[in-house]
Amino acid sequence: MESARTFTSALGDWREDHKSLTTSLADAVREAVLDGRISVGSPLPAERTLAAALGVSRGTVVAGLAELRDDGWLRTRHGSRSVVRLPPRLTERTAPWSVDRGQVAGATRIDLTAAVTAAPHGAYLAALERATGRCATLLVDSGTSTAGLPSLREAVADRYTRAGLPTRPDQILITSGAMAALHLLVDQLHDRRRPVLVEQPTFPGALAVLRGRRARMITSPVTADGWDLDRFAETVRTDRPGLAYVMPDFHNPTGAMMSAAARSRLAALDLPVVADETMRDLDLRLSPSPERHLTGPNVINIGSTSKVFWSGLRVGWIRASAARIRELLLNPLQPPLSPPPLEQLIADELLRDISSVLAERTAQLRAQRDHLVALLAGGDWTYTTPPGGLAVWLRLHHTTAAASTRRATRAGLMLSPGPTFAADRTLTHYLRIPFTATTDVLDHAGRILRESAGAPEAMR
Ligand SMILES: Cc1ncc(COP(=O)(O)O)c(C=O)c1O
Repeated sequence: MESARTFTSALGDWREDHKSLTTSLADAVREAVLDGRISVGSPLPAERTLAAALGVSRGTVVAGLAELRDDGWLRTRHGSRSVVRLPPRLTERTAPWSVDRGQVAGATRIDLTAAVTAAPHGAYLAALERATGRCATLLVDSGTSTAGLPSLREAVADRYTRAGLPTRPDQILITSGAMAALHLLVDQLHDRRRPVLVEQPTFPGALAVLRGRRARMITSPVTADGWDLDRFAETVRTDRPGLAYVMPDFHNPTGAMMSAAARSRLAALDLPVVADETMRDLDLRLSPSPERHLTGPNVINIGSTSKVFWSGLRVGWIRASAARIRELLLNPLQPPLSPPPLEQLIADELLRDISSVLAERTAQLRAQRDHLVALLAGGDWTYTTPPGGLAVWLRLHHTTAAASTRRATRAGLMLSPGPTFAADRTLTHYLRIPFTATTDVLDHAGRILRESAGAPEAMR
């Protein structure tokens, strides 16, 4: 940001009537950095030049920059220009800044409709740099879609093998996230004459894919206590679904983990089962003891980098027999559902770093989960502390999800109501509360929730 003119035009119309010039200026710079109009790492114009370009006194600029510096948005080395940076309170957290707009002045809205995290900042930037270093050889090839970069397919296959499920790279198809994996599999496996069995509750993205295909859905319940495999097997026997979609590992939204016994029974059923393992790595137990992957001749596993690394990376995968992968590659939908090669390189680099990223992420998420669970204690609802994942699944006692989300939205807290997670739009007394916000934001959310979701009068 060399020129003062470029800088001022990036700020746009920055003066706000109800704020001092200094605060208006500081807020406008913060917003412009978060919007990407001013790049992190760019030097600021000299104060005198900036004051002239903005039409304010030098004192206003000095004060505005001091506010930004104190708040962590500028780094100034003695005798040199100030350089824009992101404050550590944004880069060192898992909560996306848009959840609470990074606590930029004036933020009152807390958006917890999605259970998503920000990227692990340092690890991601380092992986991006290493990937850039490796991309020269990619550029001399066509860049058109394949089953995935060989090194990434190998890295994903190796993780399965190390977790006790021997896997060769030709059993892996890299996709543009788990959603793309699901699209391809539903395209391959859905038989219009037969229903699809989904859990109740289930992941809304899967419902969207299945509704998009006009699939008839039947359900089998999952609670925080787990799966009722007798009932599941009975539904398979009586309704003869042609496909099942399940989340055995830290099920979204209940957080449940399927037992080894339930896995064996499920894998033995006579129907194709898509096991979505997107949440698998978000194990928040103090001594993690992961179950073996759900596996069997009828099971197809899908996974993603979205939850551990970043939803913006758009890299996921399918693990299936090599023959099924070859068949999936014949689908004309496959190339557009495949991530760009540079994103694959970043994913490859990140996967090499996964243990250190996971250690930090799970520690932060565990602290946030424990904080939320403590806040929820004694309310007019029931819940179980989830052993992993990103959310608490709350059963309301005396009000509906619709009424409480309406009240919460008016108070500035947005949440996803239970029916979002139900194929038949029931679950009207449930709410999903993600713990993907910082603890102080969760405090605020907890207060609104108590007001909105009908805690008994005495507790308010
Ligand atoms: C169970 C489950 N599967 C898939 C996804 C989406 O994954 P992706 O971003 O890789 O498409 C999510 C995200 O919330 C999820 O919870």
